[in-house]
Amino acid sequence: MNTGPDGKRNIAEKGNSTGKSSVEDLFEEDPGFEVLKQVITKNTGFNCNQYKESHFRRRINVRVRATNSGSYAEYLKVLKKDPEEYRHLIEALTVNVSEFFRNPETYRIIEEEILPSVIKSKSEAMIKSIRIWSAGCASGEEAYSFAILLHEILNKDFDKYRISIIGTDIDTLSLEKARKGIYNESVMKNVDTSTRELYFTKKGEKYQISEQLKKIAHFKQHDLISGSGMSHFDIIICRNVMIYFKKEIQEHLHINFYRALNTGGYFIIGKAETLLGTANNLFKPYNTRERLYIKGTSGDIHGTGNKESK
Ligand SMILES: C[S@@+](CC[C@H](N)C(=O)[O-])C[C@H]1O[C@@H](n2cnc3c(N)ncnc32)[C@H](O)[C@@H]1O
Repeated sequence: MNTGPDGKRNIAEKGNSTGKSSVEDLFEEDPGFEVLKQVITKNTGFNCNQYKESHFRRRINVRVRATNSGSYAEYLKVLKKDPEEYRHLIEALTVNVSEFFRNPETYRIIEEEILPSVIKSKSEAMIKSIRIWSAGCASGEEAYSFAILLHEILNKDFDKYRISIIGTDIDTLSLEKARKGIYNESVMKNVDTSTRELYFTKKGEKYQISEQLKKIAHFKQHDLISGSGMSHFDIIICRNVMIYFKKEIQEHLHINFYRALNTGGYFIIGKAETLLGTANNLFKPYNTRERLYIKGTSGDIHGTGNKESK
């Protein structure tokens, strides 16, 4: 089956030999598209212009089809009649696929090099706080993966640190799942048996993350594009989120992430993503194959420097 990077079914596959169905062609010409975008933004605050047009159309067409609408104008009528449809629409627009220790090779470097280096520099500077931001955290798997690694590394010193792993996402349904911390087997394939036994409680077919790890993971709604600035992070991980955004928005966000990091902090992006624009000169590559970057002391741009957190 033909699927997108999100793992969801690509609706273009339903089409003819050109890869598009006639309905899809019709949608492309549909003048209601711009009106629909404006109405969505007005009623939900969701910035439709952040996404690459092809991605946005593909995702919105999922709901247009699901509601048997023949055009964007018809879909608008559905939205007007049934405000609950907005919830389904936002869920379709945001791709929420994630899993624990996604791309295990990246996590191996995080575990063996990055976290030990952060902890070492903290202990040398007598600083007891560690701040990590999982931006676009979906249901929290990424945030809890960091929590597990930190607990494994710090062991009996775990409680001596003030650890904050902040997971942010635009999608409230995903955040509710993150706060509950209950997961299906499907997202656990990279979690070995001993880790499952140590950090999860089996609840029927599901796995519940331990209370001790829940205490250090905080989830809040935040739109990366219009949301307020964040700061003082030792590590920022933003993977498989910006890939759907237009290039200029990606560039802007890379700078925002640079600003939000402490000097010496690490920036981690998805394996299919690249640093764009000014950020390319600002971040120092740490491991380019795994898309790991560091905020060095030199090459700073005016006004972007952050003081180390206490
Ligand atoms: C594919 S998931 C990535 C999850 C995780 N980072 C990973 O790599 O496994 C993308 C997430 O980005 C979120 N997202 C999309 N647009 C966003 C925005 N403007 N601000 C914050 N989060 C956003 C979606 O809701 C979704 O949960």
